[in-house]
Amino acid sequence: MKTTKLHKYIVPDLNINFVDRDREYEKLLELIRYGEETKPEHSLNLVITGPWGCGKTEFMRATTHALQQDPEILITYMNLPKAAVREEFYIATEDSVVEALENLVKELVGDRAKLLLHLYNIVKYIAKRLNLKGRKLVLIFDEVTVPLNRYRLTIRDLVTGLSKEIYDIAHEHRCQVHVILLTSEQTAAKTLQERRR
Ligand SMILES: Nc1ncnc2c1ncn2[C@@H]1O[C@H](COP(=O)(O)OP(=O)(O)OP(=O)(O)O)[C@@H](O)[C@H]1O
Ligand SMILES: [Mg+2]
Repeated sequence: MKTTKLHKYIVPDLNINFVDRDREYEKLLELIRYGEETKPEHSLNLVITGPWGCGKTEFMRATTHALQQDPEILITYMNLPKAAVREEFYIATEDSVVEALENLVKELVGDRAKLLLHLYNIVKYIAKRLNLKGRKLVLIFDEVTVPLNRYRLTIRDLVTGLSKEIYDIAHEHRCQVHVILLTSEQTAAKTLQERRR
């Protein structure tokens, strides 16, 4: 069963196994064309939104754990508001990828939350350490609304920019690139209202 690994994940705060989400997980694998030949043109951005506390973060953490040893996938979860604590910022991310991202922050970006705006460099830094050819790179950014707001951008602006960029990057490294953005509906709506004002 595809979802066995997903349910092996133990939810840290509650100390119980992760439950449900089988359909969502299978849909996600379908969207990234898991098990199919990797093709740059199959790159895709995804936005996951829902009310506060509906389980967006835990779903993505469990997904990261379930796919972290898979040779077809290279997955990284970044929790943008947790910028101060490294262990909470990157969850279940391969050490060499964390090292690449930390170098990028040190050399170029300055602030972890700003990684969101440096997709080209992220993939370049990872590609220096790992062979991406034929693999599916999945980059998950949690709680994107507040950092974007700092740069006067909305999720829509970001997705528009990324949708052009991911294909170029994926072709350059002969991989698939999937960016998954998470935000709660309330935070996104509040930010939009403030901006309208
Ligand atoms: N499938 C699940 N199995 C077990 N526990 C879960 C599951 N999904 C969520 N939880 C638990 O429910 C609580 C809320 O989930 P989570 O933090 O993922 O929500 P969220 O949608 O990210 O919320 P926010 O919008 O505030 O960021 C957490 O304690 C989480 O561990
Ligand atoms: Mg969350």
